[in-house]
Amino acid sequence: MIKVEGLTKRYARTVAVDNISFEVGKGKIIGFLGPNGAGKTTTMRVLTCYLPPTDGTASVAGFDVMKQPLEVKRRIGYLPEAPPLYPEMEVIEYLDFVARLKGIPRSEIKSRVDNVIQRCAIGDVRTKLLGKLSKGYRQRVGLAQAIIHNPDVLVLDEPTAGLDPKQIIETRQLIKSLAGDHTIILSTHILPEVEQTCQEVIIINRGKLVATDSVENLTRRLRGSEAVAVEVESQDSALDPGAVRRRLEQVPGVSRVIPKAEDGKRCSFEVESLQGRTVRAELARAIVEAGWNLTELRPVAFSLEEIFLQLTAKEEAMEGGAQ
Ligand SMILES: Nc1ncnc2c1ncn2[C@@H]1O[C@H](COP(=O)(O)OP(=O)(O)OP(=O)(O)O)[C@@H](O)[C@H]1O
Ligand SMILES: [Mg+2]
Repeated sequence: MIKVEGLTKRYARTVAVDNISFEVGKGKIIGFLGPNGAGKTTTMRVLTCYLPPTDGTASVAGFDVMKQPLEVKRRIGYLPEAPPLYPEMEVIEYLDFVARLKGIPRSEIKSRVDNVIQRCAIGDVRTKLLGKLSKGYRQRVGLAQAIIHNPDVLVLDEPTAGLDPKQIIETRQLIKSLAGDHTIILSTHILPEVEQTCQEVIIINRGKLVATDSVENLTRRLRGSEAVAVEVESQDSALDPGAVRRRLEQVPGVSRVIPKAEDGKRCSFEVESLQGRTVRAELARAIVEAGWNLTELRPVAFSLEEIFLQLTAKEEAMEGGAQ
């Protein structure tokens, strides 16, 4: 549905996107993951025909972004980083305006507008001025305008940036509910976002493609060795953190125990295990059998920085090995 080949975008002095290639199949949700300045927005602007590429090609539903921009725009819905909303317009007026702009036949406009208002749950604010909407509602209106012409492909640039936790959950659910009918590419710099919403992930860093994989594979690859946060509490008297640490170190499969905090009655550690070993059940048993309370036991998520470090370290090692 989306095909990018050797795409390069150069600004005056910066190479924002450097020879990247990827494909996105129909009905999939793809996470476009990368830190600030990685080239996510630039790639999305090329895909949506807002920027011409310097080199390479991109096509949407078989139409080239350079040669057939009208065909591409007809099939694509775009939520830009900062949706251009007109502050003096009411929500419903704006959606009506966008629908006409996108060439939806007059007779269908009302039903399309009603449909997106319902899907994006913005009925409460339909007669509010855009300038007076909260960030979360503005984002929903941005989504509504992106899907109003029922496009095959949705390009969403950081759809949950700046939202509160409840709005983030709601927006993710909305995006998930749109998949299947639509092929979706969404950018983010937060890994959990990709894990929770997407099936596949494309990682870019400084304009270069670092990895493209299924979310499952990527997580497995990165979590080959697991880290677990453990908090232990004594049932009555003071707790000896040294004793807890020694007990945790004895659990088969544990490679390292890193003390994190202690306050007399409670202490916490980060426990790393050997490649391919899951030690959570054994850790829990060891703690309880020693007569302590287990107050926390959770896998520690890798941060985006750690992922980049891991992926780029692997690449460097491979490059080194090839020489
Ligand atoms: N109009 C422009 N003129 C010159 N350089 C630009 C322009 N737009 C972006 N850049 C540069 O291109 C690079 C990629 O920017 P881009 O906005 O695509 O990154 P991003 O991955 O979307 O980052 P963020 O997470 O901050 O949104 C950056 O180095 C940026 O400074
Ligand atoms: Mg961006």
